[in-house]
Amino acid sequence: MELINSHPVLEFSHGERVTFSFDGRNMEGFEGEPIAMALHANGVKIYRHTPEMRRTRGFFCAIGKCSSCFMVVDGVPNVRTCVTPLKRGMMVETQTGRGKINLPSEVV
Ligand code: FES
Repeated sequence: MELINSHPVLEFSHGERVTFSFDGRNMEGFEGEPIAMALHANGVKIYRHTPEMRRTRGFFCAIGKCSSCFMVVDGVPNVRTCVTPLKRGMMVETQTGRGKINLPSEVV
């Protein structure tokens, strides 16, 4: 994992180490950190493909003010992963286009 563990001015605290899935692959992150940060630490830099041109997108603002980090999280598209906290067992998927709602059958 690519993480900053010490800094001369800032102090870091992490939540519990948890597993989640990204496009079917198991990954680890820290509970409560933004999903996009966990993906970045695991080397994932592409979060979605644009609707028209299928261009790749990743981090841009990192403060929840654009749409660059939209992903499908637990079947819900258009989740701003830079401001959404990671939870144990989350299913995170690369989003293509505008995304489709794909909720588990027990929710529908
Ligand atoms: S990177 Fe801009 S909203 Fe997430």
